[in-house]
Amino acid sequence: MVVHVALTGATGFLGLRLLRRLLDTHRTLTVLTHAGSGDALHRVTRFFELTGAPQAFTAGLPGRLRVVETDLAQPRLGLSARRFHELADDIGALWHSAGSINLEGDLPALRRTNVEGTRHILELAAAGRQRPVVHHVSTAFVAGARREGVAYEDELDDACGFENAYERSKYEAELLVHAWSREHGRPVLVLRPSILVTDLPPHPELPSHPLMVIERILRDARRAAGHGCADGAAPDRVPGPRDQCPGLPDGGPSGPVAVGRPRVRTVGHPHGRLNLLQVEHAAEVMVRLAALTPSGGVDTYHVVHDRDVPVPTVVTLLERLIPLAIDLVAQKPDDPSALEALLDFYPGMTSYLAHRRRFDDTRVRSSLGPSAISAPVGLDYLWSGLARRGRATAGPPDTPTTACPPVRHA
Ligand SMILES: NC(=O)c1ccc[n+]([C@@H]2O[C@H](COP(=O)([O-])OP(=O)(O)OC[C@H]3O[C@@H](n4cnc5c(N)ncnc54)[C@H](OP(=O)(O)O)[C@@H]3O)[C@@H](O)[C@H]2O)c1
Repeated sequence: MVVHVALTGATGFLGLRLLRRLLDTHRTLTVLTHAGSGDALHRVTRFFELTGAPQAFTAGLPGRLRVVETDLAQPRLGLSARRFHELADDIGALWHSAGSINLEGDLPALRRTNVEGTRHILELAAAGRQRPVVHHVSTAFVAGARREGVAYEDELDDACGFENAYERSKYEAELLVHAWSREHGRPVLVLRPSILVTDLPPHPELPSHPLMVIERILRDARRAAGHGCADGAAPDRVPGPRDQCPGLPDGGPSGPVAVGRPRVRTVGHPHGRLNLLQVEHAAEVMVRLAALTPSGGVDTYHVVHDRDVPVPTVVTLLERLIPLAIDLVAQKPDDPSALEALLDFYPGMTSYLAHRRRFDDTRVRSSLGPSAISAPVGLDYLWSGLARRGRATAGPPDTPTTACPPVRHA
């Protein structure tokens, strides 16, 4: 029997890779796209074009993808009751990858998309005549603010709190999934990826790399603290006043601009580590896990790399991207510089540099064997996915950076 699959978040960083994998085995798919967020079919097609898909494949996409515009945050996903029930009855499997990954977001907004959105997707699954199986994309970071030790696949608690509202919202969404599975006696696959990365260079028509947000915050803070242009090499244009420091009233303080590589002390652990996994590999593993026979309840898997990336490697990457010299310190400095004070606004992000925990993925490895292991993620791989074309490195720390045009202030 052919199972008709629906996927949310198909225009996202992970969703596009899931879509690619699902199209390998399904002639047609329904994509539940974000209403009012641009032409989803065009965005999907551009992804396939930019990643080298044959022309015949991309030309066939309009006939293979049924696009249904939805809003996760709205009851019935913003659809009429009739449309909602028709949609539910068509679906044999439901992949839920849509969500907000805004690490700076506030809890009410994140709850609307990630928690209420999951509730509405579960309601869709409950309404369907075919009793669709649900594949819910969560995150390994539901483990929260526990910085040491091992996080296991069968754990779900808030004992250590959370580093940010995003983590909490994803935790609450998983709680909903468990309650729904118990109430309806239905299986759910919960997939918990770590931080997903790519070596595909940034492109304005592709979803942004999750680590770019950290780069942007460091760059904006550097500019706002008066350290001038933060690109590693001479920029190809003089930034306009509004795009120097988005989110800051005037694009940064006025007055003379210091250039160079300012030192910034940030709390972190020299033996810390972060789990980063190639997004293509994550999508492949997820689709293979979905093919396993479900237990009947909630089956949770850590979709993670078998080797963590040392925090000093991440620091080197950031120093290559932004002319900063980052010193990891055990505690917040008592005498923060202007730059350090600005970075203190983002504790939910910088706190990851203090993490030393490991994610146990025994279930994945015992189900899929050694093929679940992916190639190493190193500095060069990460650099490829973050460096804009034609951009030179910022040079090693302590090297004066290329002089860049003075930042103009509004
Ligand atoms: N990226 C990571 O490193 C990572 C790591 C662990 C877990 N995850 C999880 O993986 C999932 C996918 O993340 P991603 O990296 O693909 O994120 P992403 O690139 O930001 O994509 C998010 C997707 O959700 C859609 N969406 C957002 N708000 C919506 C709404 N109100 N209604 C309908 N659709 C909406 C977006 O559509 P538009 O683009 O049209 O707005 C987009 O397709 C998320 O659940 C995330 O928590 C991601």
